Amino acid sequence: MKKAVIFDLDGVIVSTDGYHYKAWKAMADEEGIYFDEVINNRLRGVSRMASLEIILERATKTYTDEEKEAMATKKNDIYRESLVELTPDDILPGVMDTLTGLREKGVKLAIGSSSKNTPVILEQIGLGSYFDAVADGNQITKSKPDPEVFLLAAKLLGVDPADAAVVEDAYAGIDAAKAGGMKAVAVGDASKYEKADVAGATLADIPLDDILA
Ligand code: BG6
Ligand code: MG
Repeated sequence: MKKAVIFDLDGVIVSTDGYHYKAWKAMADEEGIYFDEVINNRLRGVSRMASLEIILERATKTYTDEEKEAMATKKNDIYRESLVELTPDDILPGVMDTLTGLREKGVKLAIGSSSKNTPVILEQIGLGSYFDAVADGNQITKSKPDPEVFLLAAKLLGVDPADAAVVEDAYAGIDAAKAGGMKAVAVGDASKYEKADVAGATLADIPLDDILA
C-alpha cells in the first residue's frame, strides 16, 4: 500500500484552466499572436516560461529574453488578479472526501505543482496549511515531464518514490510521475492517457483503495 499521495494543484485540486487561458489570451491578443483553447491544452502542467515558448510558436517576430520576461509578467499580473475570485467552493468534486479519507488512513499528503502561484491558490481555497508538504514552481528548475517536483515532494515527506502515488490531470504530469518511479493516477484530460495506472473523470470516481494499491 502506498504511504503518500502527491497531488498536482491546477486541474486536480482546483480548476484554474479558464483563468490561465484568459490571461494568456489577453497577452497574445495584445501582441497579435494567434492563440486558442487547443493550444491552451498544451500548456497544462507546463511552467510559465515553457508555456510562453509554446505560444510564441505562432509569433511572426522573434522576441528578446527581456521581452519574453515582460510578456510572462504581464500574463501573470492578469492571472493573479483573477485568482482573488477563487474560494473553497472552487475545490473540484471528490477532492475533500479523498483528502480526508486518505488522512484518516494515515497517508501523507503533498502538493507537487509547476505553479509559482501555488501558495496564493492554496490560501484562496482554504488549504494553505493542510498539506504535509508543498513542492512547487518556486523550488524547482525542471518543469514536468521532468520528475523533479514530485521527487522533491516525496523527499519533503520522507517517503521513497516507490511508496508514493501522484494524482495528475496533465499528460506531462503522468509522464513525470512515471519517470520518478511513482504510481500515476489520472483525472480530467489525462484520464484518456494510456500511461496512467488508474484513471477517472474526477477524484469522486476513484476509490481510495485504487489510489493506494
Ligand atoms: C501548472 C499549470 O500547474 O502551472 C500550467 O497547469 C501553468 O498551465 C503552470 O503554466 C505554471 O503556473 P504559474 O502559476 O507559475 O504561472
Ligand atoms: Mg494540472
